[in-house]
Amino acid sequence: MALSEQTEDYLFKIVLLGDSAVGKSNLLARFARGEFYPNSKSTIGVEFQTQTMSINGKEVKAQIWDTAGQERFRAVTSAYYRGAVGALLVYDISRRRTFDSIGRWLNELQIHSDMNVVTILVGNKSDLKDVREVTTAEGKSLAEAKSLFFIETSALHSSNVTAAFQTVVKEIYNILSRKVIQSQELKKQDLSWTGNGGTVILKGENGEEEAPKTGGCCS
Ligand code: GTP
Ligand code: MG
Repeated sequence: MALSEQTEDYLFKIVLLGDSAVGKSNLLARFARGEFYPNSKSTIGVEFQTQTMSINGKEVKAQIWDTAGQERFRAVTSAYYRGAVGALLVYDISRRRTFDSIGRWLNELQIHSDMNVVTILVGNKSDLKDVREVTTAEGKSLAEAKSLFFIETSALHSSNVTAAFQTVVKEIYNILSRKVIQSQELKKQDLSWTGNGGTVILKGENGEEEAPKTGGCCS
């Protein structure tokens, strides 16, 4: 079946990562509901929101998972990462400590998830210009060194928030499109892929998620 006939069935799992209070939950609230909470509390357990997005004129669903940055509030790590094909690695531009943690988060992502998760480094709270501790150039340079996308956002001012999520979803979609073309060339029906970009979660007939497909196709 051609990709154009299938896109409503695509559900991409995307995880939010980063130290406590960098603004993960507010980025999600802003993106999914257009809301912002000036005094939000630490996330307890796991929450997720599903957002339908238009990519190249096609409908794609992004299921965005959010948990606490603080170890003691975190949910089971392996379940959080399982099946993720995208990640937003968030730090707070006004707190260098949160930027210094990025390497650790990247490590955790690589340990717990499938080989290549499409990842964007997000410097949040770009509105806090007067107390900035991490320059844009430093963020860019780290992203380049680690082969990540990069963006600075403000959940407060609603700046670049949609763009951050869209960058990730678009790239996943592009990788998938290329895989579909490859698999069509190989005359394979199975659209799942694991070799080069993680796992795509497809929805079952009743709308529930099927188990992430692994062991799929071409490398
Ligand atoms: P944990 O759940 O503990 O991991 O934290 P979190 O990363 O989800 O942070 P959260 O979204 O709860 O935000 C923490 C604090 O930062 C809250 O007081 C937010 O209002 C504030 N905040 C979030 N985003 C922004 C932003 O873009 N600008 C400013 N100025 N404050 C923000
Ligand atoms: Mg939170």
